[in-house]
Parts: sequence; structure tokens; C-alpha cells
Amino acid sequence: MSQFPSRVTLVDVGPRDGLQNEKEPVATEHKAQLVHMLQAAGLKEIEVTSFVSPKWVPQMADNAAVMAAIERQPGVRYAVLTPNMKGLEAAIPTRPDEIVVFAAASEAFSQKNINCSIAESIERFAPVVEAAKAAGIKVRGALSCALGCPYEGEISADQVERVVRLMKGIGVEHLGVADTIGVGTPRKVQAAMERALKHYPLVEVSGHFHDTYGQALANIYACLELGVHQFDTSVAGLGGCPYAKGATGNVASEDVVFMLNGLGIETGINLDRLVDAGAFISGVLGRLPVSRVGRALLAKRAAA
Ligand code: HMG
Ligand code: MG
Repeated sequence: MSQFPSRVTLVDVGPRDGLQNEKEPVATEHKAQLVHMLQAAGLKEIEVTSFVSPKWVPQMADNAAVMAAIERQPGVRYAVLTPNMKGLEAAIPTRPDEIVVFAAASEAFSQKNINCSIAESIERFAPVVEAAKAAGIKVRGALSCALGCPYEGEISADQVERVVRLMKGIGVEHLGVADTIGVGTPRKVQAAMERALKHYPLVEVSGHFHDTYGQALANIYACLELGVHQFDTSVAGLGGCPYAKGATGNVASEDVVFMLNGLGIETGINLDRLVDAGAFISGVLGRLPVSRVGRALLAKRAAA
């Protein structure tokens, strides 16, 4: 336990990863309200939207409108995805604090998700990274399929490290290890994280775990054992990737906060208000929150 962090930062990716896969359009004002409720709950970083092709991901077509609709709170950082220069050029006027370039540890997923090879993606990202930094915007990198690929199956730690090194080489400042399809288990996650930690300091790595196989909390705990203290989570457990069929949402923010509260690890997040945010967006989508903690606390409120 000695390396356990005393404080953890959660980046809520619900407005982006959570909603990108929804078939029915979600109103821009509802997306903005979700961001407002997340910041009211104490989230200090929120992944708001992505500047990708609206033909590929129609749900994110209102990216600039969402960025314009949010009332920013001092001390909160707003991140957006940018897969290429076109995305960055559209994003910059909307004043993101951080942009995310997203590569994959698997060739097949790279092709399906961003229509190019891993090597081509790195070439595309290089000028994006440079221009973002020149504009004073922090650059985060996401590494998809670090624990397995929906098309290629097993992914080795060597494959992970190869792309980590490439991301580092073009100046990506932060590396998020992503389990796109939720197949990772704790020791494998540690092995992938350790490869990221060979090239990035502890403060610049994070975990992004989809909970498809119910392993995400265990995987976060395994990362805490390494001292990792930043994770992407999604309120209400929303989400999935349109190019990873069957993959469910990210680990629910409520579930992670509940676990961290129990461990005595600070997040600065008010769980009750987070549950409100999860209930709000789930209501908009016409379903119950996927979050077990969200459901339990809502049931407790209803009974009181
Ligand atoms: P492409 O078709 O190869 O792009 O797509 P292109 O450069 O050949 O351009 C084709 C058309 O797209 C052109 O328009 C461009 O202008 C337009 P047309 O002339 O046909 O009218 N275009 C754009 N429009 C808006 N914004 C842009 C943009 N770029 C080109 N930025 C591209 C390549 C990367 C754009 C496409 O494959 C794409 O948008 N992919 C996005 C996929 C995506 O969003 N996936 C989900 C997010 S990643 C994720 O969820 C994983 C993560 O959560 C971690 C994890 O869990 O693993 C981060
Ligand atoms: Mg994801």
C-alpha cells in the first residue's frame, strides 16, 4: 500500500465518450447542462466533445455549439478530442484547455477508428501536437486497445510500449492507457502501465477503463498500487466506442468516487451531486444509470 496516492484526479469523459455512441441525438443544451452538473459536483477536468468527422460520429457534430454553451468555472479544465489538423483548427477558437490525440496499440483498430495506420496517425498528430502547444494548449494522448483489440485480440505490453514511445517522440505530454473493450485484468493492466511509466512520469499517466467485463474498479485499484493518480471515468457509466462494437461504457464516475472515498483517497468530488448528474443524463436518455453506486444511492433516496 505504500505507494497509494492520497489524492486522485478524475476526468469525466461522459459528455464525450459517454454520449458519442448514442444513436438518438442528444440536445446541445442537455450536453451543456451535463457539463454544468459535473463541475457543480466538483469535477476539475471534463472531456466535453470531439472535433471529429460528423460523418463518422454524428453525435459530436455540435462540438463548437457545446463548447460555446458551457459556462466555464475557474479552475476547471475543458478537454476535446482532435484527430487531425482540421479538428484542431476547428477546436482552437472554442478555447479548450487540453486536446486529446488518440492512437491505438493495434493496427486494425487504428484503421477502423481513424482510417489510417499507426505510423500514419503519428505523422498526422505531430503537427497537431506542435500547433496545440504553440497555442498554449496541453496535449494528452490516448492509447486505445492497450489491453486487447476487438479485431486482433491479444495485445502485448511490447506493442503498447512501441506506440507509447512514438507518442512521446512527437511531444505528447500525457499518456492515457485505454482499455477500449474492457478486457484487461489487474496484473495485465499493471504491465501495460509500467510500460507507459518507462517513458512518462507518474503525474503524466492515466487509466481509461471501459467496464465491459466488470474489471474496471479492480484495474483502477491495481493502478493505485503503482501510484497512478489520474483516471478517466464516465458519469452514470455512459459510453462506448462506435468502432468497438459491444464495448460498453467507461467505469462509472460514481463507482470510482465511492471506492476512493472508502479508501480515504481525496477527489474533491461531492458524490451526491455526482449522482444527480448521472440521474439527469440517464433521464435524458430514458434509462437508469449503469452505475451501481448511482442506482443504490437513488434507491436509498427514494426509500427515505
Ligand atoms: P477520413 O475520412 O480518413 O478523413 O477520416 P479525410 O481527411 O480523408 O477527410 C474526409 C472528410 O472528412 C472530408 O470531408 C474532411 O473535410 C472531413 P468531405 O470533403 O468528404 O466533405 N474531415 C473532418 N470533418 C470534421 N472534423 C475533422 C475532420 N477531418 C476530416 N476533424 C477521421 C479521418 C480521423 C476524420 C475520421 O476517421 C474520424 O473522424 N474518426 C473519428 C473516430 C472517433 O471519433 N472515434 C471515437 C473517439 S476515440 C475513442 O472513443 C477511444 C477513447 O475513448 C479511448 C479508448 O477507449 O480506447 C479515446
Ligand atoms: Mg473510451
